[in-house]
Amino acid sequence: MNQNKLIDGKAISEQLLLQVKDEVDTLKKQSVQPCLSVILVGDDAASHTYVKNKASACTKVGINSKVFQLPSTTSQVELEDLIASLNANSNVHGILVQLPLPKHLDEEQALLKISAEKDVDGFHIINSGKLFRGLECIQPCTAVGILKMLEYIDYDIAGKYVVVIGRSNIVGKPLALMLLQKNATVTVCHSKTQNLESITSTADVLISAVGKPKFITADMIKAGAVLIDVGINRVDGKLYGDFDFDSCISKASKITPVPGGVGKMTIAMLMMNTIVACNLQRK
Ligand code: GUN
Repeated sequence: MNQNKLIDGKAISEQLLLQVKDEVDTLKKQSVQPCLSVILVGDDAASHTYVKNKASACTKVGINSKVFQLPSTTSQVELEDLIASLNANSNVHGILVQLPLPKHLDEEQALLKISAEKDVDGFHIINSGKLFRGLECIQPCTAVGILKMLEYIDYDIAGKYVVVIGRSNIVGKPLALMLLQKNATVTVCHSKTQNLESITSTADVLISAVGKPKFITADMIKAGAVLIDVGINRVDGKLYGDFDFDSCISKASKITPVPGGVGKMTIAMLMMNTIVACNLQRK
């Protein structure tokens, strides 16, 4: 494997976590202990793993974390009451509701209830609205993590043709806005896009957040493209990205591995956002 082609999310995220740890140490000297509360409803196995990883990152950088594991039978009122109590608690700086929620719960209403200043996911409509307008705000972790990775490899996206596959509120939509803000030319593709291959094969940067293992093959990419893989697909206990890594790496100029790519960046940016939120509340 050509190591030079890898964008090492693990190494980049570790550097970022060291920066966060420094900021936490500075806050602690000022008698502020940053704290992130995570709400996890139900027993989705992937969500449990993600939340565990988030909590252990908190431990690593010195952020207090509290995970509220609620049963899948939790009602909307119970969920919103917990959010309200965390909003009111000045020792809590960040609140994250792990998604997806069980079907009977209203995700939009729950996210609306989180104080925008504690919204470390950047999913509240105040933060989404600010992002849309190009204003300073708490930005969604995966999207900002991807931009950080490109920054780390000194890739200037201004004027580049970037194709994003996936239009979710969590990744695709905010990422497209952030890329536009950085002067990229952006196309967003999705499950109903026709002739996907004709679009992906012209992208300077191709970002996939589809959730299908090895969905993008070498014949769908441009030679020399930068490939960013947001997919985390578990098959027989092993993780695969959306790109067919082995065939794509030889044609691409850069590629993010799975695991050890975007996923690590998401968590590092969550830690950064918790510090951003903490500082917002101190103002
Ligand atoms: N589910 C998948 N990704 C995310 C994320 O970034 N934040 C939350 N809250 N839930 C998710």
